Amino acid sequence: MAEDAAGIARRMHVAIIMDGNGRWAQSRGRPRLFGHSAGAARVREIVEACPDLGVRYLTIFAFSTENWKRTQPEVAGLMALFRRYIRNEAQRLLKRGVRVRFIGDRNRLDRKLVAMMDGLEELTAGNSTVDLTIALNYGGRDEVARATQRLAREVAAGRLDPEAVSAETLAGFLDTHVLPDPDLVIRTSGEARISNFLLWQSAYAEYDFVDTLWPDFTPELFARCLARFETRERRFGAVAG
Ligand code: IPE
Ligand code: IPE
Ligand code: MG
Repeated sequence: MAEDAAGIARRMHVAIIMDGNGRWAQSRGRPRLFGHSAGAARVREIVEACPDLGVRYLTIFAFSTENWKRTQPEVAGLMALFRRYIRNEAQRLLKRGVRVRFIGDRNRLDRKLVAMMDGLEELTAGNSTVDLTIALNYGGRDEVARATQRLAREVAAGRLDPEAVSAETLAGFLDTHVLPDPDLVIRTSGEARISNFLLWQSAYAEYDFVDTLWPDFTPELFARCLARFETRERRFGAVAG
């Protein structure tokens, strides 16, 4: 496990908005899906760099609730890519000790894809080297709305007292309820926005917006983001020192 200057082992949660696949492809005169394939290949390298970098939790944004607005061929191509990723990577993830989870609304996804997602979660459930969470048909507002629905059902059934509802109670109904909050959120491609990613969970995350397009984001650049993170002083509302 990686250690910082003080010799403290890191067990970080890093979340990444993997952006810029389309522009990467366009700059090469290739179709957008070519960029998405190149981006998927990067995911493997970044996941496998995590243990050495002290990243215990990695959460990646693969498809947002807003990405359905893209053309039908691009959406279909992305869905095929997700199936291919699960099929091709499952055994490798298993061997590397990666536990995979998916967050997001599964209801709008193809049944076959959902079955593959469930299968990968089950296959890797005994792993504990890296917790990889893939956000697929994920939106922060949608997640909070779905959590509120579940919470409201508990209230309606008389199992939850409305007066007892706290921030922790609501967090317990989110898709991410088993994960710690992210320490660092990285977005590639130069856009400085969060596009509905982990809205609740990132309340105190540090942000790093890098210009590199996702298919060019190497483990070396990832390590640089983590080094920058180490120089930040996190105060959580308190006074320094
Ligand atoms: C990110 O790359 C991948 C997804 C949103 C699925 P984009 O496809 O958004 O790439 P750009 O932003 O158009 O370059
Ligand atoms: C965010 O990227 C979603 C993912 C990386 C999956 P977008 O490319 O969809 O975000 P906007 O549209 O530029 O905000
Ligand atoms: Mg984009």
